[in-house]
Amino acid sequence: MFGTLPTGTPIEYSAVSSSFPQWGSDVSQKICLIGFGTVGRGLVEILRDKRDLLAEQFEYQPTVVAVSDVFHGTCHDPAGLDLDRVLDLVSRKGAEPGALTGYSDTVCEWDSLETIRQCGADAMVEVTLTNIETGEPALSHCQAALEAGAHVVTTNKGPVALAWRDLSRLARSRDLQFRFEGTVMSGTPVLSTATEALAGCDFGRIRGILNGTTNYILSEMEQGRPYEEALSTAQELGYAEADPTADVEGYDVVAKVVILANVVMGADMNVADVVREGITGLDADSVSSAPGRGGRWKLIGQVERVGEEVVASVTPVELPLEDPLASVGGVTNAVTLESDLVGPVTIVGAGAGKEATGMALLSDLVAIQRAG
Ligand code: HSE
Repeated sequence: MFGTLPTGTPIEYSAVSSSFPQWGSDVSQKICLIGFGTVGRGLVEILRDKRDLLAEQFEYQPTVVAVSDVFHGTCHDPAGLDLDRVLDLVSRKGAEPGALTGYSDTVCEWDSLETIRQCGADAMVEVTLTNIETGEPALSHCQAALEAGAHVVTTNKGPVALAWRDLSRLARSRDLQFRFEGTVMSGTPVLSTATEALAGCDFGRIRGILNGTTNYILSEMEQGRPYEEALSTAQELGYAEADPTADVEGYDVVAKVVILANVVMGADMNVADVVREGITGLDADSVSSAPGRGGRWKLIGQVERVGEEVVASVTPVELPLEDPLASVGGVTNAVTLESDLVGPVTIVGAGAGKEATGMALLSDLVAIQRAG
C-alpha cells in the first residue's frame, strides 16, 4: 500500500503488548482527534463524564490538545481543551461550518495533516468517514501520525482493511501502537478477545452478524415495517454509515471480515476477495414470512479456513430459528470464533452507536497508557 515502506515481514496485531501494565508510570496522555462526528463526540463525552473514574481506577488522565474536522475546523490548546466548550460549539443548533475555529480569539487554521504534525499529541484518534476503496483521508492521517511519533487509535475500517500490515509495520518500527478495536463490533471486544484473551488458538471459522443497521432493518421488516422507514430510523439513531449503501449492500461487513481474516486468522485478504451480497435484493414478504417457515433472515459475514486458503463471504441467509445467531435482533451484533483450544466462543453485544464506539476508542487509549 505504501511504496516507501518495507514489506515482506508478517506482523502480528500491534494491539498485543509485550509490556506488563505500568500503572501510574506516566499518567498524562495528550490526544488529538481527527474527525469530530458522532464517534469522536462520543469519545469526548466519555472522557468528560468518566474523568474521575478514569483517574481514580486507572490513573488515566488524558488531555485533548486538538480537534480537527473538515466541516467544523480546528481548535488547539497545548494545555488541554475545555471539553464542554468544544462539544457545545459543534452541537449548537445550526452550527456553522468552522464552529471550532471560534474556540479562542486566535483562529487555528491548521488542516488535519498540519494538526497531526504540529499539535504534539502522544496519540491520534482517527474518526473521519470510512472509505474502503481508497482508505482516504484516514490512511494518510494514520501514516502522518505514526511518522510524527504518535500512537494511532481508530474505528475507521478503511485503513485497517486496506493497509493493516503496512501501518502495523510502520508503528512497530517507531515503537508505537496502531490499535483499532472498534472497527469490528464497536465497543464489544472482539479483536482483543481473539488476539489477546485467546492468544495461541487457531481459528477455523469466524461467522457472525457484523452490521447493526442491516440487522435492525431485517428485524423491523420481519414485523412488517417497510425497508425505507427502518433504514431512516437506523440513520436517525446514528447506526448507519454516512452513505448507508455501505451498510445495506454489505461493504461495511466486507471490511470487517477482511480485518478478522487478516488480523485474527493470519490471512492476506483484500476487500475484492470477499464474495458480497447485501440485503437490498431481499423480498419483503420473504423476510416477514420467514418465521412461519421456521427461519429468520440475517446478513452473515463469514471467514473460513479451507485447506491452505482462507475464504470469506457476506450474504443474506435464512437461518433456522434454532441457530444461535437467529435470536440476535435489532442493532445487536454477534460473532462466533471457532477455536481449536476452546471450541466456539460467541460474543454478543453492541456493534454500533455513539457511546459503544467511543468506548472502543477509550479502551485502546487506556491500553496504550498501560503499556507505558
Ligand atoms: N454502520 C455500522 C453498523 C457501524 O451499522 O454496524 C459500525 O461499523
